[in-house]
Amino acid sequence: MRNLVDGKATVVTGGAQGIGEATALRFAEEGADVVVADVDEEGGHGTVDAIEDAGGSAVFVETDVSEAAEVQTMITRCVEEFGGIDVLFNNAGIDGPLENIVEYDEDGFDRVIDVNLKGVWLGLKYGIEAMLADGGGSIISTSSIGGQVAVPEYSGYGASKAGVSLITKSAALEFATEGIRANAIAPGLVETPMVNDIMEENPEMEEQFRNMEPMGGLAQPKEIANSVLFLGSDLASRVTGHTLAVEGGYLSQ
Ligand code: NAI
Repeated sequence: MRNLVDGKATVVTGGAQGIGEATALRFAEEGADVVVADVDEEGGHGTVDAIEDAGGSAVFVETDVSEAAEVQTMITRCVEEFGGIDVLFNNAGIDGPLENIVEYDEDGFDRVIDVNLKGVWLGLKYGIEAMLADGGGSIISTSSIGGQVAVPEYSGYGASKAGVSLITKSAALEFATEGIRANAIAPGLVETPMVNDIMEENPEMEEQFRNMEPMGGLAQPKEIANSVLFLGSDLASRVTGHTLAVEGGYLSQ
């Protein structure tokens, strides 16, 4: 059987660990050529090595997604290395401060918006520009269930993730006739370094986290990666503007 994303030039931001790492590996397994982009050089090279060890093709491009020039370079490197760009996974993100709005630090708010929202906007801006010159493509951005329901002390994060779903719709409408699809995923709780760090710092939250989703427990990064793979592949050829929740039933309550 043909692989799902054979030969598709794919950029994954936040590819050094967690959901991004799992998605980069999964796309490579299904035949994609992958640009792993991240601020974490060591982790990024680790993902590239794992892809190459499994017989796949990948390069690392050090990128801070909140910097326009670095996002442009990331996209250009993909076109140079792999002859175009077919899929972009705008996934890099940070959780930011964990405080109520009164206590929330203003610089922390700016940073979470810069990385999670502006970073996605920059990816759409330069990714779509390159895709238009290359016959179209599919962009998937990482939102969160925290962008659909308010989580106390996560105002900056929640606003950034709600924004991701909205600009995803903007991009979908603006380029619907030009071969560009734009979708988002909204994970619930995924067992990644981001969530493990929160549980380590606040041990009392672990039990609450593990009981949060109706299906129980935490999702594994690969379960998110498989949903991204669907949206990035031609199986989702008529799906655009959508935010796909991958949250074990949480939003059905
Ligand atoms: P993680 O913290 O394990 O990995 C995030 C990666 O993004 C890291 O490799 C980090 O170096 C990179 N990164 C951070 N800032 C960056 C920047 N400015 N430019 C480039 N790379 C940068 O996080 P995880 O859990 O894998 O999260 C990935 C995405 O999924 C994030 O957008 C997060 O908000 C979102 N998400 C995660 C959930 C979870 O339960 N883990 C739930 C819902 C959404």
